[in-house]
Formats: sequence, C-alpha cells, structure tokens
Amino acid sequence: SRSIRLAVIPGDGIGTEVVTEGLKVLQAVGPKFDITEYDLGADRYARTGEVLPDSVLQELRGYDAILLGAVGDPRKVPPGLLERDLLLRIRFDFDHYVNLRPVKLLPGVATPLADTPPENIDIVVVREGTESLYAGTGGAMRKGTPHEVATQESINTAYGVERVVRYAFAKAQSRPRKKLTLVHKTNVLTFAGDLWQRTFDRVAEEYPEVTTDYVHIDAATMFFVNQPERFDVIVTDNLFGDIITDLGAAVAGGIGLAASGNINPEGAAPSMFEPVHGSAPDIAGQSKADPTATILSVAMLLDHVGLTAEAARVEQAVADDIVERLSHAAARTTREIGDDIAARVSGGA
Ligand code: NAD
Ligand code: IPM
Ligand code: MN
Repeated sequence: SRSIRLAVIPGDGIGTEVVTEGLKVLQAVGPKFDITEYDLGADRYARTGEVLPDSVLQELRGYDAILLGAVGDPRKVPPGLLERDLLLRIRFDFDHYVNLRPVKLLPGVATPLADTPPENIDIVVVREGTESLYAGTGGAMRKGTPHEVATQESINTAYGVERVVRYAFAKAQSRPRKKLTLVHKTNVLTFAGDLWQRTFDRVAEEYPEVTTDYVHIDAATMFFVNQPERFDVIVTDNLFGDIITDLGAAVAGGIGLAASGNINPEGAAPSMFEPVHGSAPDIAGQSKADPTATILSVAMLLDHVGLTAEAARVEQAVADDIVERLSHAAARTTREIGDDIAARVSGGA
C-alpha cells in the first residue's frame, strides 16, 4: 500500500523531546510513513519573525495527518502568540471541529482518586474545536485607563454546534454504554447554552438508543472527581472542554498520559494529533517529560488513517509498559520510556 504522508511539528520545550519518542514508536510499527518535519515554533520566530507562513499552511494541507508536540516558550515569544497564530490557526483553518480527548484510567496507573477501579474512568470528551471564546473576537475600550472595558465574545453557530453534537451522538452510539452528556453552563450563558441545548435535544431524537444527560460545567468538575463513572461520552464547548480535559488528565493518572486528536471528520483537511499538555518550560531539557501522551496520540493518528491493528499494537504496548512501571525503582527518562514502548511494539520486549 502507499506510504502515509505525515507532517511533524515538534515545536518547543518538551514538545521536541516527546515527539522524538512518538516517532520512534511510529517507526517501530512499520515502514509505511513518509515523514517531513517543520521547524515551526519559538526558535523559528526568534530567528525570522515567522510564526506560520501562508505557504507552509498550504503545504500542510497536502499531508495525510499532522503530529504536533507543543508550542510556547516564555523566553523567546510573547505569551499567546504561537498558541493563537500557529496552533489555533491550524485548528481553525483545517476546520478541526472535533477535539477528541479520551480520559481513560489504564490498569496500573496511580490515580489521585482513592478506591477508583480503572473501569470507572472511561470517558471520551468531544470538545468543540473551532468556536466559542476561542474565536478571538472582542476588544478593549479605553485601554490602559481605570475605565478599561474588555470584551471577549463566545461565537456559537447553529452549523458549528450541530456538527460536533452529531459527531458526539455517533460516538456515543458506537460505545457499549451509549450515553452522552452535554456539559455547558446553560443557567448563565443563556444564548449560547440555549443553542447547545436545543441542538442536543433535536439530534437526540435521531438516536433513541443513546441515553442523554445534561450537567453544568461546575458540577461536572465535581463529578469528575467523586463520580467519574457517571460519564461515558461528553460533548462540550471549546473552553469548557479545554478545562475539563486537564482535570480529566489529572484523574486518569497525569497530564503525561493524556492524548488528543484535532479531527476534521470529513477529511477535507488533515487531522492533527498532539498530547493535551503544553511545552512545560519547568521541565524542558531535563529528560523528565513523559512521552506516553504523545505515543498515545500517535495511536490515535494510526487509527485515524485506517491502521487500526497498528494503533491497537501501540495501545497495548503502552498498557503493558504502564503495568511494568510499577516495578521500576527509579523514574525513567523520556528516552527510556520511548525505547521501552518502541521495543514492545517491535515485539522485542
Ligand atoms: P503544561 O501542560 O506545559 O505544563 C503544566 C504542568 O504539567 C507543568 O508542571 C509540566 O511540567 C507538567 N507536564 C506537562 N507535560 C508533561 C509531561 N509530558 N510529563 C510530565 N509532566 C508534564 O502547561 P502550562 O505550563 O500551562 O503551559 C506551558 C506553555 O505551553 C504555555 O506557553 C502554554 O500556552 C503552552 N501550551 C501549549 C499547548 C499546545 O501546544 N498544545 C498546550 C497547553 C499549553
Ligand atoms: C490545549 C491548549 C490550547 C487550548 C492552548 C495552548 C491554545 O491548552 O490544547 O489544550 O487552549 O486549546
Ligand atoms: Mn489545554
């Protein structure tokens, strides 16, 4: 079969460290990938002033998928610049309206939640990826004065809400429990919440087998900690989804394990896979970053491009590695974890 064309953006900080291990595991799966690395990120910006040239964005469109590490370096770039003009620009331009973020407690992982068996935390968060407060509209009036007024608008379109809600219903339908929870803040965000709730209720009629539920975002954070088993699939807005998935990462064993995919379900543009975490300046360059989140993102990528068996092999290698972690006396380096998982994938462990 033809090789899969993959664009890789290691980015900044631990992004480059974890992507090295992700690619190592990808190579261990098989030789079917044609990989091109892009040096986008803080160094490129510091050197050339470029964040994401239009020509590069165009070029990225030609790939089958993208793997990203993380961007952001407080020493070299103004905060938020790369986040907005590189990461969010790709998500928006490639219409990644589904930000898929599994929250799954793997056997052997230490969770801060006492007495929680792994089967109690098996959630898929379907985070909307192109709208809401991330739209970047708003403004500042009387800036710098004591009377400054800053507005930040949440844009929610019927089209944008419906397509992500539909994706979430189909996802719920495909899972054993067939349960979908809308998470929002309809009691306060009356306009946006109303659109989400009406859309959710209307699409629900087409999925009689899916059990539906609604939980406010504030209550949802509580249930993630004291009753995570109440969730199967969650559909939520961009910002709530951002926040709840860091919490999800924490309850499922840590941000070093949390994977994600920015999906364009129609394949009109390449989807982009990345760990949920950022560039972690506090541990960058110390070989302390856990590459597992990136390796699990690689598994999501494999699944997305149709290499289902290969994806399962990577997931199994991670699951086995995690069980083994319990017996490791000392913490392994980023590279050691990558080596161990890659060895399992190649069948050498
Ligand atoms: P962060 O996720 O980078 O770090 C939060 C904490 O988690 C830190 O203590 C860090 O050491 C730890 N951590 C993160 N990943 C880890 C891993 N793989 N293994 C072990 N520990 C890990 O979030 P932050 O500190 O809020 O943000 C740092 C920078 O990253 C900012 O510039 C932010 O905008 C950016 N960011 C980028 C992305 C992205 O590129 N997708 C995502 C989130 C944050
Ligand atoms: C994430 C990050 C991004 C987001 C930032 C860096 C723009 O926190 O991928 O979760 O808010 O989506
Ligand atoms: Mn986030």
